[in-house]
Amino acid sequence: MPERVEEQERLWRDEFSISKADERYVNRRQLAKFLTLGSLGMFAGNSWILIKSWLREAQVYQRRVVAKAGEIPVGGAKLFQYPTPEEQCILIRTAEDAYVAYSQKCTHLSCAVFYSHERDRLECPCHQGYFSVTDGSVLQGPPTRPLPRVILERSGEELIAIKMEPEV
Ligand code: FES
Repeated sequence: MPERVEEQERLWRDEFSISKADERYVNRRQLAKFLTLGSLGMFAGNSWILIKSWLREAQVYQRRVVAKAGEIPVGGAKLFQYPTPEEQCILIRTAEDAYVAYSQKCTHLSCAVFYSHERDRLECPCHQGYFSVTDGSVLQGPPTRPLPRVILERSGEELIAIKMEPEV
C-alpha cells in the first residue's frame, strides 16, 4: 500500500513539476504583475481625467430676463428656469430693493427647495435641509454644499440672470 502512495506521488510530481518555493515565486510574480498593471491603469485613468479637465471649456451662460422689479412683493418668491429650461430656480425679494436667486435643486438629493418667509430660509421638505436666504449656505440638515446661486444684474426695471456660481 505505501508503494502505491509513493507511486501516485511520483506521478503527481511528474505532472505538476513545480516545487513549493516555485509556487510562491509565481504568486509573487503574479502579484507584482497585478500591481504594475493596476498602477498603470490608474495612471492612465488619472491622466485622462486631467487632460479632459484641461480641455474643458468654461461654461457660457446666456443672459435672461427673469422678472421685472416690483413684480413680486417684498418677502415673495418667483420660480424661473435657468440656465436651461429644465433647471428650476427661485427668485426671492428680500427687501424693497434686494433680490437673490438660487437653484431650486437641493444639494442633498435634488428635491425642490421652497422659500419660507416666516422662517426666512429656504427649506427642503424631503429631509429638512435648510439654507440661508442671504448666501445659500446650509443652516441645518443633511446637505453639505450650499445652493448654487444665480447671479443677477439689474437693468432698469429688469432683473437679468447672468450666470451661476458655482458653475452647474
Ligand atoms: S433632498 Fe433636500 S435635504 Fe435631502
